[in-house]
Amino acid sequence: MNAGFPVARPRRLRRNAAIRRMVAGTRPHPAELVLPMFVKEGISDPQPVASMPGVAQHTLDSLRKAAGEAAEAGVGGLILFGVPAAKDAVGSAADDPDGILQKALAELSADLGDAIVIMSDTCLDEYTDHGHCGILTPEGEVDNDATLERYASIAVAQARAGSQVIAPSGMMDGQVGAIRAALDSAGFSHLPILAYSVKYASAFYGPFRDAAECAPQFGDRSAYQQDPAGPVGEALREVRLDLDEGADAVMVKPALAYLDILRQVRDAVDVPVAAYQVSGEYAMVEAAAANGWIDRDRVIMESLTAIKRAGADLILTYWATEVARRLP
Ligand code: PBG
Repeated sequence: MNAGFPVARPRRLRRNAAIRRMVAGTRPHPAELVLPMFVKEGISDPQPVASMPGVAQHTLDSLRKAAGEAAEAGVGGLILFGVPAAKDAVGSAADDPDGILQKALAELSADLGDAIVIMSDTCLDEYTDHGHCGILTPEGEVDNDATLERYASIAVAQARAGSQVIAPSGMMDGQVGAIRAALDSAGFSHLPILAYSVKYASAFYGPFRDAAECAPQFGDRSAYQQDPAGPVGEALREVRLDLDEGADAVMVKPALAYLDILRQVRDAVDVPVAAYQVSGEYAMVEAAAANGWIDRDRVIMESLTAIKRAGADLILTYWATEVARRLP
């Protein structure tokens, strides 16, 4: 064979760690990670979530400690989910000023100030006895417009308690506009909305329903969340509507199985795009690693790198604190 053949040798840029480091184009940074956290009312010790090893339902005290650790590690934000002691048909605890999430928001904002961005998930499924993300009609359907009034009230309660970003996740039509209007008239025009714009009816949410105790008691969420096989233009339409209604940033969820959608959204908009690496994505890695079947730490970094490469500016991940500590 001729000396000098082949001319193109991509391996030249892979020869050693120094050169690979220099040319690496995708570097997750702690500031772009967001840690989802669960706080439960009426427990005296944190409760491990069986299907999410390493994740707990927190008490107010353990939440403050874990949130402080995330801030210390340089994690950019956290997003809080409340698990109330009592549920009812309209999710009354969700906008109760003394509700668990509002208490948690107040304590964390007093503790942490602006050391980390404190966000709140705005939805009803953790608070309703039927486990759906909205108010039901007598026929048992989720009533879109009645639910919007609840979301508006919940968002204002969260804002009053100290939430710094409102993140509506219920997939009702018009939810961003309804929340924007309510926040503005309550004096919170400065608070951003991170819209869960593209949210699929995904089996990857399974473990979350243990963590947030919100499995629907009948039916499923496919009448409001997107069909994984749905029209390909649907994701972009949802994003466009949310931006028209005033969303400041948008989200795609889940992450790894929807990287194509994430890339389309990233290319289409001029606002930050978040991706949510959801409970099932976490659980699969932890379960395989516990069996010794994969290299846990490398799989975590590889999946986060892939999500970033596909276009995420922010990544919600249950590994946020651990990964932030590990990043250079
Ligand atoms: C709804 C909500 C869900 C998740 C975040 N917000 C559950 C659902 O839609 O069923 C799932 C997150 C995860 O699986 O990690 N409030």
